[in-house]
Amino acid sequence: MNRRTILHIDSSARLARSHSRRLGRIFVDAWLAERGQDEVIYRDIGINPPPFMTQDWIAAAFTKPEARSDAMKQTLAYSDELIDEIERAEVIVLGAPMYNYNMPAALKAWFDQIARIGRTFSFDLARGDFPIEPILSGKTLVVVSSRGEFGFDGGVRQHMNALDMGISACSHYLGASSIHTISAEFEEFGGERRANSVEAAEIKARALANSLVSSLRQAA
Ligand SMILES: Cc1cc2nc3c(=O)[nH]c(=O)nc-3n(C[C@H](O)[C@H](O)[C@H](O)COP(=O)(O)O)c2cc1C
Repeated sequence: MNRRTILHIDSSARLARSHSRRLGRIFVDAWLAERGQDEVIYRDIGINPPPFMTQDWIAAAFTKPEARSDAMKQTLAYSDELIDEIERAEVIVLGAPMYNYNMPAALKAWFDQIARIGRTFSFDLARGDFPIEPILSGKTLVVVSSRGEFGFDGGVRQHMNALDMGISACSHYLGASSIHTISAEFEEFGGERRANSVEAAEIKARALANSLVSSLRQAA
């Protein structure tokens, strides 16, 4: 059995009380229970948020690699490290709580760091209306989320769900060929609805890990 790599990112600002962290752990633990030989790269951007992009960062990113100064290379070093992690991974698990109907700023900063010309996308106007072409491919993206309100997945607040839309729009930078989203809702309301939603999300996280592992077995 080939060794696979999972990149697991947490972006909740909360620690022990975080539901997205818990769902991510459930997925990864269920995966490792079947495939203990696999590698997990873990990055906690909730605790250590990536820096926002700056004028220097943009100038460095859009300078051809062979023309970059040492200072430019230094400016891009962290971005390179994050992209190296994505390249190595076959499965990317994103812990993504909903903050103000969107992704946490730390996760947006992470996407800003990894959307890089020449590393995760190419740009060519000869391609017409869609000049951006992803460089990476074939990865499975698992988004584990928690929300305070409800109805974001096809329900009454679907139109306010900028979180899943934002992740999906940027997922080509990750080379995601498939996206699986699991979310627990109703956190602000508590009670039975919340308990049921959390339980269903946990069951889905375990089931998804098992089903992805069994597809790997069938493909082997
Ligand atoms: C700063 C902040 C903003 C939030 N904004 C929203 C929101 O726009 N919509 C929503 O449904 N829940 C919102 N919530 C509730 C969180 O999505 C909910 O608490 C979720 O469980 C957080 O994820 P975590 O448990 O992994 O920390 C917000 C919570 C915080 C702390």
